Amino acid sequence: QMGLKTTLLGKKIHYFEEVSSTNSVAKEIAASEEEGALVIAEIQKGGRGRMGREWVSPHGGIWMSVILKPGIPLRHASRLTLVAGLAVANVIRDMGLDARIKWPNDVRINGKKVCGILTEAKAEVDRVDYVVLGIGINVNMDLKDIPESFRAGSTTLKVELGKHIRRVSFLQDFLFELEQQYISFKTQPFSHILNDWLALSDTIGREVKVTTPSRIIEGRAVGVTPDGALIIRKADNTKEEIIAGRCIYARP
Ligand code: BTN
Repeated sequence: QMGLKTTLLGKKIHYFEEVSSTNSVAKEIAASEEEGALVIAEIQKGGRGRMGREWVSPHGGIWMSVILKPGIPLRHASRLTLVAGLAVANVIRDMGLDARIKWPNDVRINGKKVCGILTEAKAEVDRVDYVVLGIGINVNMDLKDIPESFRAGSTTLKVELGKHIRRVSFLQDFLFELEQQYISFKTQPFSHILNDWLALSDTIGREVKVTTPSRIIEGRAVGVTPDGALIIRKADNTKEEIIAGRCIYARP
C-alpha cells in the first residue's frame, strides 16, 4: 500500500501515530522480526539522539528504525551508520540540495543539520544478532515547530526547498537507496562505500574538536578508518582514531 520499490526493506512495517522511541520499539521486537522490518511513527515522545541526548520529533518528520541482521562482527556495526548517512545524503542531493555528511552521522545542508542517525546493536560474543538503524529526518516542519533551544544549527527539507515534500515518495526513494547501499555493503569491499562517503563528507581536512564521554581531542581530521573511526592529527603531530564522539568544527 506504500508502493515501495524495495524487496527487503519495509517488507513489514510497524506504523504508530505516537511512540516513545522507534529505536526502543525496534529493539524490543528485533529478535522475532525478519531483517528489513521497519518501525515508523508520526511523533516520538522520547526520541533519543546519540550520547544520551534528546531528539526532538514533532509531526512532519520521518522518525524510523530499520531492523537489520547482517551477521557481521560487532566492531563493524558502526559502518552501517556511514551506509545510512550516505543513503540519506544521496536522496537529498537528488532533490537538488547540497547535502553533506559530518562525521559520524549528521547529514547537513548549508551547515545545518537535517538528519541524525542512531545505530544500536545487540551481539552474541562478537557476531551481531541485530542492528537497529534509527534515522530521523526533519522533513516538513517549519523552524517554529522545533523548540527554540534545539533550533540553532537545525534545518528541515521544507525550509531548504521552500515547499512541502511528499513524505511517502521521499520514503520510497530513501528505502530504495538504502537497500542498494546495504546490498553493496554486503557484497562489495567496504572501501567502495567509504569512498562515496568521503566524497560527500565535509569533515576531512577540517580543524575539529571531538568530545567523547572521557575526553576531548582537538586537531585536524585527516581521514576515516575502514571501521568508520575518525583519524585526527593533533598539534604534536601524533594521530588518534576515535570510534564515537561528538564532533565540532573549529571554523564553521
Ligand atoms: C543524533 O544525531 O544524535 C541521532 C538522532 C537519531 C534520531 C532517530 S529518530 C528515529 C530513531 N528513534 C530514536 O529515538 N532515535 C532515532
